[in-house]
Amino acid sequence: MANKKVFFWSVVVALGGFLFGFDTAVISGAEKSIQQLWHLNVFEHGLTVAIALIGTVMGALLGGIPSDKYGRKTTLFGIAVLYLLASLGTALAPEWYTFLIFRFLGGIGVGISSVTAPMYISEIAPAKSRGKLVALFQFNIVFGILIAYLSNYAFAGVGENDWRWMLGIQAVPSFIYLVLVLFVPESPRWLILKRGKVAEAERTLAIANPGMDVKQIIFEIKNSAQDEQGKKMQTSLFSKQYFTPVTLAVLFAFFNQASGINAIIYYAPRIFEMAGLGKSSALLSSAGIGLINFLFTLLAINLIDRFGRRTLMLIGSVGLILTLSLVAKAFYLEEFDSFSVPIYLFVYIAFFAFSQGAVLWVFISEIFPNQVRASGQALGSFTHWIMAALIAFTFPYISETLGGGNTFLVFSGMMVLQLIFVWRLMPETKGTSLEQIGQTVVMH
Ligand code: GLC
Repeated sequence: MANKKVFFWSVVVALGGFLFGFDTAVISGAEKSIQQLWHLNVFEHGLTVAIALIGTVMGALLGGIPSDKYGRKTTLFGIAVLYLLASLGTALAPEWYTFLIFRFLGGIGVGISSVTAPMYISEIAPAKSRGKLVALFQFNIVFGILIAYLSNYAFAGVGENDWRWMLGIQAVPSFIYLVLVLFVPESPRWLILKRGKVAEAERTLAIANPGMDVKQIIFEIKNSAQDEQGKKMQTSLFSKQYFTPVTLAVLFAFFNQASGINAIIYYAPRIFEMAGLGKSSALLSSAGIGLINFLFTLLAINLIDRFGRRTLMLIGSVGLILTLSLVAKAFYLEEFDSFSVPIYLFVYIAFFAFSQGAVLWVFISEIFPNQVRASGQALGSFTHWIMAALIAFTFPYISETLGGGNTFLVFSGMMVLQLIFVWRLMPETKGTSLEQIGQTVVMH
């Protein structure tokens, strides 16, 4: 277990994930009232929900730039400001355009946080507990989703302004985040490689790695700016040298969404209704999805550094293939007995949380060498968000034209490819320092 200070820094920074989860889920409770209030047509209604995701894709794409230029800590502070502005601005918006602008800003915050927060934790964590500490980010995302559902439920019906409360309440955790981020130190790896501030980095490294030779760690970090022949490492992510980590991160992020996870997170009630459940049991089953996601993420966090990332992914891939095939079968055979589909989807979520959910942000944040971690993390995160957006926009149409059976069969087929990818290509990264991982993935 990591010492208390490192744990505290990681928990604080992972709070960015809580706001990410809350922000993405909160709109589901508010969108209907907003549509009625401002008499939105179908396009405007769609844009009200989608605008945050558009901001997120952009935030993920660009998030590496401030992280490298101004530092991880300053960027995290900027994210907190964005979250705070977004919650107050949307809650108080006098008309639709203002609402859109602030929702967009919040989306940018989510996008940048998916780049900077996991990367910061990865850079500050001791190798032996890095998996657990970075996975706290996912734990917070899932917790944020769950709390948003509960808070929407609590505020629903408090009056015609209920949606303003749902969005505005996010100002409280945003403000707490903003204050707490001031108490974390800057990433030692960024300090050494981008600012040459070795003494400041040394203090943090000594706290994070008690009993270890800090001079040696610093030596390795400094050394990571050069390859084995002593030549300067490239600083462009798209140089041939980084072909392997780029491929690994892009494929990993692609498969994360090709599992259909966000089709299920965003459209759970609709899927349950398609499978024959009444409206209220469909809503209840959706809350069940949130809870199971939460519990199995917790389990995975406790196993990720012991079993390793690959083991979790191998078990998860097999489980996802089976459960998605069962859902497809239920749709083909019209097994709509109000039991089958909910149970298959519950088991599906358990396997997702245990594997892809817990491992995604960990793996992407540790697979790139120090020189290009920020841009690499941004690329992985961007791939994930573009896929998430594509699936979110097309799922209702595709499932209607292809039918539930074919749609879930495609997701299941994707998970077969994922299994092959994990088995043949994915390296194990547990317990290894970032510098050692960086050395093994680079092409010489
Ligand atoms: C992961 C995915 C995110 C998804 C969440 C569900 O964080 O990246 O897109 O909504 O898991 O638990």
